[in-house]
Amino acid sequence: MYWYHAETKHSYYSVRSNPNAMDWALQPSTYKTYPNSFEKFELDSQNLWHGIIYYAASISIKKYYPTGTERFLRVNPSAGALYPNELYFQARGIEGFEDGIYHYEVQSNRAVLLYRLKEGEGVEPYMGYETAMQGMLFLVSAVYYRSSWKYKNRAFRYCLLDAGHLLGSLESGALLMDENINIVYDIKRRELNKMFGFGSREYFLSGAMVATPLEEKVKPIKFELIYVDGSGTFEQNEHMEIAYRQTSHLLEKIAESKIPKFDYEKVRFQESILKRRSQRGFEGKPMTKAEYLKVMEVINEPILSDCDEELELFVVLNRVHHMPMGLYHKGKLVKNEDLSQRAGYLCLEQYSLGTQGAMTFFLLSNAKNYQALYQKAGIIGQRLYAISTYLEIGCSGIGAYYDDEVNAFLEQEGMVLYALAIGR
Ligand SMILES: Cc1cc2nc3c(=O)[nH]c(=O)nc-3n(C[C@H](O)[C@H](O)[C@H](O)COP(=O)(O)O)c2cc1C
Repeated sequence: MYWYHAETKHSYYSVRSNPNAMDWALQPSTYKTYPNSFEKFELDSQNLWHGIIYYAASISIKKYYPTGTERFLRVNPSAGALYPNELYFQARGIEGFEDGIYHYEVQSNRAVLLYRLKEGEGVEPYMGYETAMQGMLFLVSAVYYRSSWKYKNRAFRYCLLDAGHLLGSLESGALLMDENINIVYDIKRRELNKMFGFGSREYFLSGAMVATPLEEKVKPIKFELIYVDGSGTFEQNEHMEIAYRQTSHLLEKIAESKIPKFDYEKVRFQESILKRRSQRGFEGKPMTKAEYLKVMEVINEPILSDCDEELELFVVLNRVHHMPMGLYHKGKLVKNEDLSQRAGYLCLEQYSLGTQGAMTFFLLSNAKNYQALYQKAGIIGQRLYAISTYLEIGCSGIGAYYDDEVNAFLEQEGMVLYALAIGR
């Protein structure tokens, strides 16, 4: 097991001996804003290419509380609503964008032109492509302190899961224009981090593309952007930096080229993307067998990527009509009993999710490429949110669980990456 993963396990004792009291007044900023000397323009959700970004990362609800605090939530979920990830992209040969490198300014729903493309250059070679790609190439980073401020050393896990959710949201955005997204984990992180002026506070985790190859060869683009602070305050976390560096070079990788198939009705799917929220607790109402089958179908579709790591998916069925209760693996019932209490306990005693929900999921992996496998867990999580919202079922990611006890319960040794619950 990767040492970072082993060191950041939760246990019954660790969460009690290290209570995590938060002063929300000190929360780091969740927005990165480039100075207004950069050209900026608002995204138009009616434009298909703008829409991919709008439906993947924009603010979807603004809540104001009598205490004067405000909470802006987004189409993509994030552990603790801390939103550690930033989204950058290259646009080439598409309507609605001048060819260039952009940052998505979430707070104002604007694209910020960071650099205009010149002939024969592009970000393609940093993502493993030799020729120009017509369309969009995305880069996902993490401003890690936004998450480590709350989750301390465990936050690298959340930065990766949340990045996976953002990639999964891009997949949904692309589906709206009948396109597939290809995830690229093998990006030249060191060169890109330097060109984008990140220092050690922000780092790239992955890329993705919705584009078609052209014949023209491109040279790697070279620029040096100014440093722009993305969190307001900052405290270095060595664990986060070491784990990132150690996992930045991919070991053997196997690509997935099977195209996933989804049969969402487009208008309804589009509406559901904007309506998605995390369920704060379930009422213990059941799901139907048809819903169960549909959910399993969607999350088991292949994920196009250059490094498809193997993940194991276990599901506890607490209440699904016409399905025996218990633990399932690869569609087979492996323990036939009421495990709902146990499922809630394992999710750090979040019984209102793990017990009251209809289904509780656990994702594990023994694979080697930590950044790729963790982001894949996030993508699957996002697919689960997407299909659940579409079917009007509630869903919540659960990043807090008793790692070793989940392993003992499942009789598995793999790293426990993520839990999620769905239900009503
Ligand atoms: C990786 C991840 C882990 C999460 N873990 C928990 C959790 O342990 N308990 C919980 O109640 N919510 C959890 N959530 C839900 C978030 O708190 C929620 O996404 C966030 O507050 C934003 O709200 P929204 O999803 O309604 O937009 C998690 C979400 C993600 C993406």
